Amino acid sequence: MNIALMASGGDCSGMNPATKRFVEYSLEKNITPYFIYEGLEGLIDGKIKKASYTDVSGIIYRGGTIIRSSRSKRFYEKKYRKKAYENLLKYNIDTVVVMGGDGSFRALEILSDEFGINFIGIPATIDNDIYGTEYCLGVDTALNVIRSAVDDIRDTASSFNRAFVIETMGRECGYLALITALTSGAEMCLIPEASYNLDSLKKKFLKQINEGRKYFIAIVAEGLKISKEIKEWFEREIGFESRMTVLGHIQRGGNPTVFDRLAAFEFVSCAIDLAIKGEKRKIVVYKNSKFNSIDSKIVTSNTYKIDERLIHLAKDMME
Ligand code: F6P
Repeated sequence: MNIALMASGGDCSGMNPATKRFVEYSLEKNITPYFIYEGLEGLIDGKIKKASYTDVSGIIYRGGTIIRSSRSKRFYEKKYRKKAYENLLKYNIDTVVVMGGDGSFRALEILSDEFGINFIGIPATIDNDIYGTEYCLGVDTALNVIRSAVDDIRDTASSFNRAFVIETMGRECGYLALITALTSGAEMCLIPEASYNLDSLKKKFLKQINEGRKYFIAIVAEGLKISKEIKEWFEREIGFESRMTVLGHIQRGGNPTVFDRLAAFEFVSCAIDLAIKGEKRKIVVYKNSKFNSIDSKIVTSNTYKIDERLIHLAKDMME
């Protein structure tokens, strides 16, 4: 049996430990592991290579992905998908294990519909926005990178009378912002999934200033696209000098946390076991503290929703 691993879309920390486990567990199960380099772009261009132990030694602690990734526009043209299929055929690849978001799973579904290629998906995105799984690879590392940045900003924030607006990634999903706000002692948390009330926040903040508050930390999810507006709001309505920090791509870096290394191990072991059993078009998911799998279609035809309980915990930072 020949099995290939690829990363697609935004990379995340945890992909390298997953890659290491992929090679080692495949070999243990007498499966031949292949790498598809540079995601869907590399698949189209035939960047496929048999993998060995030596490829994965010394990578477990590294962020990013040694097999690299891409966002591919060409893949959405049939002639390039045919090339991708022919490349897989050349190496007799039975199953592709893809680490990525639901956009990547959708891409593999198309390839599977058209050419019968099998795939197993591993949710891997810092956004934590994939339906059917409570956890996506890379989220814990991203949260720790953000926590460290917010802690550092707090050092300078606490030296001035200022408001700091910090924008986190996550596309349309506010998970990173929400968990960050809850765990960093922020005063404000704005995410696309929850309503907010600037008037009541203003009343609360002015009262707190009267009582001695010296600075504010506001966490705003990028999906709202209002970070600049909130910075100006602090200056105009609260009367505090403000600074805005867009954390950006540092959130995708950093060496994988212990949690992500272990999650990588579990996600990949489960994916390979599914391939061995001949399971088709599955996504490995983490639910109720267990790794399991569900049909790809269920994942790609539904939308992730943040646990309402978590939103409820952050309500006083929203209104
Ligand atoms: O999906 C992961 C992610 O990091 C999002 O949080 C962010 O909006 C996007 O990718 C950034 O994409 P790019 O690296 O292509 O700029």
